[in-house]
Amino acid sequence: MAIVIPTIHLKGGVAKTTMTVGLAEVMATEFNKKVLLIDLDPQTNATVMLIGDRNWQELNNNGYTLATLFEEALDPDDTKFILDKTLQTNVSNISSCKKLDLLPSSLDLINIQDVLAKMPTGPFYSDNPIEILKKAIRPIKYNYDYILIDCPPNMGIITLNGLRIANGYLIPTIPDVLSTYGIPYVVDRIDEFSNNMDIKIEALGIVVTKFKENSKVHKTTLGKLKKGMTQHVFSSIFKESNQVAMAADFNKQYATFKQKWDEDGQYNAFYNLGKEIIERYEG
Ligand SMILES: Nc1ncnc2c1ncn2[C@@H]1O[C@H](COP(=O)(O)OP(=O)(O)O)[C@@H](O)[C@H]1O
Ligand SMILES: [Mg+2]
Repeated sequence: MAIVIPTIHLKGGVAKTTMTVGLAEVMATEFNKKVLLIDLDPQTNATVMLIGDRNWQELNNNGYTLATLFEEALDPDDTKFILDKTLQTNVSNISSCKKLDLLPSSLDLINIQDVLAKMPTGPFYSDNPIEILKKAIRPIKYNYDYILIDCPPNMGIITLNGLRIANGYLIPTIPDVLSTYGIPYVVDRIDEFSNNMDIKIEALGIVVTKFKENSKVHKTTLGKLKKGMTQHVFSSIFKESNQVAMAADFNKQYATFKQKWDEDGQYNAFYNLGKEIIERYEG
């Protein structure tokens, strides 16, 4: 069965999406794993990075996104979500990347998220809004080695749907004061959730992103994170780089993973991160 890993942080702009997409692509290419990326963020950035804006528009017009899944949960008599049509196979603008699939998000999730938050829960309601995603991917979860989830920057119902099926989670962060501020809260909240649900969700660790070597604050914060010892800090450090910012553009075509991501040690950072995670689960 697939190992499920969401990427979580309360802060926007810390490279959650970039990390999730790059990790999915490195696993699917350099490690030959069958990977599914689930885009739960209404910002839809991972989706647009992997299939482009035009394809997304078309899927969205047809209702073939995860917004339809969550919308359906609000009105279970009206079944609309079609998994086969929503699942996008063989995505990414890296032509050698053949083993990556996507469940796309939609901007429409923003409103649905708010309505879902007000839905009643508890033992008397069979359609628990925390298990919507779990039920939906049941028919396909055995087809993958890894399922990575890009979560919205909050701990709402949609994020909890991702955590409900998680084996372990990653926290990407820029090593500065404000970006690292919310990390203990995220960890506590996930501990509380997993205890309540009686499931085990492992904190895999912190991934340092957009690191500026010439920044004193970045160096000090990185030192503090490492010394803190409360969370593992991955040895892969992602430096601030133009190439990574450019990788967000779907309209560029690349032959290999290395071509898309490599600048200033970025290839090694993704490779080693993928390797460390795979070794943790596969020994
Ligand atoms: N290592 C990096 N170097 C330079 N820019 C980066 C890097 N990682 C991410 N970015 C850029 O930073 C912005 C925020 O990243 P994103 O992955 O969208 O963050 P989040 O999902 O946490 O909001 C994007 O424009 C992205 O292209
Ligand atoms: Mg994002």
